[in-house]
Amino acid sequence: MADLNPDVRIFEDLDALSQAAADAFAVASTRSAGERGRFLVALSGGSTPIPLYRLLGAPPYVGQINWGTTQVFWGDERCVPVEDLENSYRQVHDILLGHVTVPPKNVHRVPSELEPEDAAAEYQRTLKEFASPPLDWPRFDLVLLGMGSDGHTASLFPGSEVAPTAPALAVTGNYEDRPARRVTLSPAVFNSARQVIFLVSGEGKAGVLKRVLYGKSEPEVLPAQRIRPLDGSLIWMVDRAAASQL
Ligand code: 6PG
Repeated sequence: MADLNPDVRIFEDLDALSQAAADAFAVASTRSAGERGRFLVALSGGSTPIPLYRLLGAPPYVGQINWGTTQVFWGDERCVPVEDLENSYRQVHDILLGHVTVPPKNVHRVPSELEPEDAAAEYQRTLKEFASPPLDWPRFDLVLLGMGSDGHTASLFPGSEVAPTAPALAVTGNYEDRPARRVTLSPAVFNSARQVIFLVSGEGKAGVLKRVLYGKSEPEVLPAQRIRPLDGSLIWMVDRAAASQL
């Protein structure tokens, strides 16, 4: 069993899920800024978080978040130019970051124009600038993650190699129809976060969600099972369609 009693919150639809995620984002940003003077967040690519990003860039949320003390990272990135529609940084910049007052120096995109190995090495240097010793990377205050219908999360794909301690990994294997050249944060980084929220929507995720949450532990097959914060909370925000087999 992956986790005896996962914190699963079921919402009527993606809009309600996104609203709840926006509330959680605002609460985490206020708490982190109050306790530590900054809010370190790692964002997800994919389509599920798009409504959330739109909410965060508009009232009321846009005024509830201290963008000046927010440090924005990505949980993974596709190694394509920033102008490419597949680029996760570009997606978030167009929908959210270009519309809020986060200082450009606080936006830490993966240098996706580099080869995956070089981009991963460069990103590890960026992570180290925000390290929480003895870690070589930051304890993120909030990590947002999606999950594919094959159980991948970020760019941790079924069968992909995972270096147990490296903070950022180059991903070059071909995994079905996805852009293959990527950088991903490693499970070690995700699992040192204070809070991880999975956002899962749609009937197509229902079967794998049940397996990940309540099936046998097989993280090599279902990488989302690798996400188990050591000293942080893990919340699954799912819509009714994705929860239809729970
Ligand atoms: C990405 C994400 C990836 C995504 C899942 C779910 O860069 O695409 O890191 O892990 O979260 O594939 O994607 P959807 O939200 O589009 O279903």
